[in-house]
Amino acid sequence: MIRDLVIENRSYRSFDESKPIGPETLKELVDTARLCGSAVNRQPLKYRLVSEKDEVEEVLSHTHWAGLLKDVVLPPEGHHPTAFIAVCCDTSVTPDPAHAQFDAGMAAQTIMLMASEEGFGGCMLMAFDKEAVSVALRLPKKLSPVVLLALGVPDETVFLCDLPADGSTAYFRDKAGVHFVPKRSLADVLVE
Ligand SMILES: Cc1cc2nc3c(=O)[nH]c(=O)nc-3n(C[C@H](O)[C@H](O)[C@H](O)COP(=O)(O)O)c2cc1C
Repeated sequence: MIRDLVIENRSYRSFDESKPIGPETLKELVDTARLCGSAVNRQPLKYRLVSEKDEVEEVLSHTHWAGLLKDVVLPPEGHHPTAFIAVCCDTSVTPDPAHAQFDAGMAAQTIMLMASEEGFGGCMLMAFDKEAVSVALRLPKKLSPVVLLALGVPDETVFLCDLPADGSTAYFRDKAGVHFVPKRSLADVLVE
């Protein structure tokens, strides 16, 4: 059921490093993402797979996680993602990377849902140093990274919950480190 998969597919920020996600799995994920819809069917997205430990660590060092949580470093040491997929806009296909944002969102969600189905998980990241990541991955000038997908086998618990009384949508963690993500109710999102 797609709904179950969507519920399971949370943003995870701690991983079991002993269970890597290999390059073949990454390729399978992209092989499905490339079939997604695309504005004017231009298909400007290109995917850089990252699964070698050194490269993963280098990319990770240019990313920012869970900006709302001030007292915790994520992902924790020893619980890093084991792969990234850098979803890039090929500016020789679509000159303005902003035009590829919808395509990238659809591809990213497709990849994350498939990853969930296969027992993996991760986090979409748009808070990263694009220049530094481009250099680290030796991306050709025409490729502009739009979103990074951090992937691995999650080893943390994330629950959805209702919005608190003050209406805040800020995610939070309890003392045990369990991560809660408030979601607006159906009544709140339906326009009367
Ligand atoms: C487009 C997009 C960009 C995001 N960028 C980041 C990011 O840079 N760092 C991060 O820790 N989480 C990032 N997230 C994850 C969000 O914080 C997360 O989706 C939100 O807290 C809700 O949690 P959920 O995904 O479990 O529903 C991003 C999510 C989306 C959809």
